[in-house]
Amino acid sequence: MAADPTTQTLAELGADSPEKVAELFGELRRMFDHQANLHSSRGDPEEWRVFVLAWTGRKSGVLTRISENWLRPAPKEIKPVVGQSLNGLKAQIDAMLTGLAALVRDASESAAAVRERIDLSLPGVERAIGTRHLIQQTFDELIEIFLSIGFRVVEGPEIETPYYNFEALNIPEHHPARDNMDTFYIEGARTEHLLRTHTSPMQIRSMEKQKPPVRIVVPGKVYRRDNPDATHGYMFHQIEGLAVDTDLTFCDFKGTVEYFVREFLGPKARTRLRPSYFPFTEPSAEVDASCHVCGGSGCRICKFSGWIELFGAGMVNPAVYGFVNYDPEKLSGFAFGIGVDRFAMMKYGITELPLLFQNDVRFLRQFP
Ligand code: PHE
Repeated sequence: MAADPTTQTLAELGADSPEKVAELFGELRRMFDHQANLHSSRGDPEEWRVFVLAWTGRKSGVLTRISENWLRPAPKEIKPVVGQSLNGLKAQIDAMLTGLAALVRDASESAAAVRERIDLSLPGVERAIGTRHLIQQTFDELIEIFLSIGFRVVEGPEIETPYYNFEALNIPEHHPARDNMDTFYIEGARTEHLLRTHTSPMQIRSMEKQKPPVRIVVPGKVYRRDNPDATHGYMFHQIEGLAVDTDLTFCDFKGTVEYFVREFLGPKARTRLRPSYFPFTEPSAEVDASCHVCGGSGCRICKFSGWIELFGAGMVNPAVYGFVNYDPEKLSGFAFGIGVDRFAMMKYGITELPLLFQNDVRFLRQFP
């Protein structure tokens, strides 16, 4: 392609007659028309801006170059022709640009409208908001009841020493109570460690730390070496409860348990205590509630007994106080250990424990 004629003088271009000047201007005009059509039809505002600047830019646009390279050094004879032609070209260009600007704007607007069109039939962006797991909901519900009667929440380690999990709870080595809590021991630990089999170790840790009165509930995970089936796993959840004070009696124990059962199962629920055995409570009891499904007349859920087994509990065995420097002559109290998973299953009519831990959202979504 030949060098841009507007960077040269007319003398250099050999344009020494009005005809030749007119020819040069005609060529420029064709060039401008061609580019203007091209850029206006594309509708790209930035491209258009650059194009307009290339022709009309004050510093280095084509028109400026003509006036500097052609007009200024032009010999007297053709200077008027050059001046007129330049003015003519300027006017044509101005007119064209004004006319086409609207076209470019329209084109770019309709391009943007296509690009940014909102398709209302597209599925929306769904923000997955988590919900509390069923177990957590049950924890919260149970804890709320105890908070309402002055208990506070503490938590403790899941990895425990045999001392806290057993000894201090009055379960010495070789005691048969260790057998039915098939324990996971941790290999390679410097001192012997295990996964706590119940939340009861926190009874000891709490009493070691604070003076009476004690009123705590302890939510947490516990571990036992069970064969997994519909109602057993290797991990489950408990809420431990402990109240110790100078004048707590079996009546306080029973009253607290009854209040709890009514709050959880409804005002019609009745409570029954059956004798039981735990090394760290004396006397010990299994707490039963009248069946929340049939009201006590007998159904499939309560296996036609009218009662549902809820949890183990009892008065704190005075032997335990010896491990935490509490005075068994002056203090008394009660403790309980609630299996949270069973409560959740009971409340929501779930028959398969593993469902709770498979984290299948199709299951979990049913309990928002
Ligand atoms: N720790 C006992 C268990 O897991 C339950 C329990 C707690 C019983 C407190 C009495 C008092 O089986």
